[in-house]
Amino acid sequence: MEVVIKENYQEMSKLAASMIAEVVRKKPRAVLGLATGSTPLGTYQELIRMHKEQGLDFSQVVTFNLDEYIGLPPEHDQSYHYFMQENLFKHINIPPGNIHLPPGMDEDLVAACERYEQMIRDAGGIDIQLLGIGANGHIAFNEPGSSLGSRTRVKALDKKTIEDNTRFFEHIDDVPKFAITMGIGTIMDSRRVVMLANKANKAHAIAITVEGPVTALVPATIVQLHPHATIIVDQDAASELKRAYEHTPRDLTEAIAYIRRQKQSS
Ligand code: F6R
Repeated sequence: MEVVIKENYQEMSKLAASMIAEVVRKKPRAVLGLATGSTPLGTYQELIRMHKEQGLDFSQVVTFNLDEYIGLPPEHDQSYHYFMQENLFKHINIPPGNIHLPPGMDEDLVAACERYEQMIRDAGGIDIQLLGIGANGHIAFNEPGSSLGSRTRVKALDKKTIEDNTRFFEHIDDVPKFAITMGIGTIMDSRRVVMLANKANKAHAIAITVEGPVTALVPATIVQLHPHATIIVDQDAASELKRAYEHTPRDLTEAIAYIRRQKQSS
């Protein structure tokens, strides 16, 4: 597992966006796994900038989002469909048919979850999955205690999450109580995982995720078992890490460049 500590949120976001852009440039039909929340906003802004200024092409890209509330129509301003539309999709040239989020309005939810898994498989699997992390170590809506082998399914939201969301709705009854989420097993099937975290309120979760034992009580720790996982954090989110990670080479290309520089200077 690669841990990269960046100076600030902007640098973290730039690196995440450049990793995604690299995948898209190498494979125009890339399948991206996307997240909502405040953490990836900077990454999406950077991808939009790359699209507008450098022509980064999303015309063949396919996306699958991690999760969606049950019972919110896509046009609802608190739905993840709406979030993704506003913060990424409407600013880039991705065809609407290539965009997938779990269908939170489907009455046959069990079949909808199975279909989502099948659609990911039919698309050839996720090439790169972007992840945020909850302060309690959740990934997507896989809260502490979730099965580490879980697949896309319906989850009841934590009481705390429901309370926190109350401020976005007129009535408490309107606050979603359930969500569809990719499972931890689904996330682990991605070819590459990039987890982002900024701010001090994520420091503890990041320390356990990187340096603690793998446990279902902290779902994010599963990334330790992923063959190609990168965790990018800002200084604040890195503040409880005990080991030094500064010299971790970002990838093979960087390692090879390093060997070449060493050879030239010897
Ligand atoms: C959202 C998601 C969540 C968030 C996490 C962090 O699709 O999967 O697990 O990544 O709750 O949220 P923020 O980024 O708002 O701190």
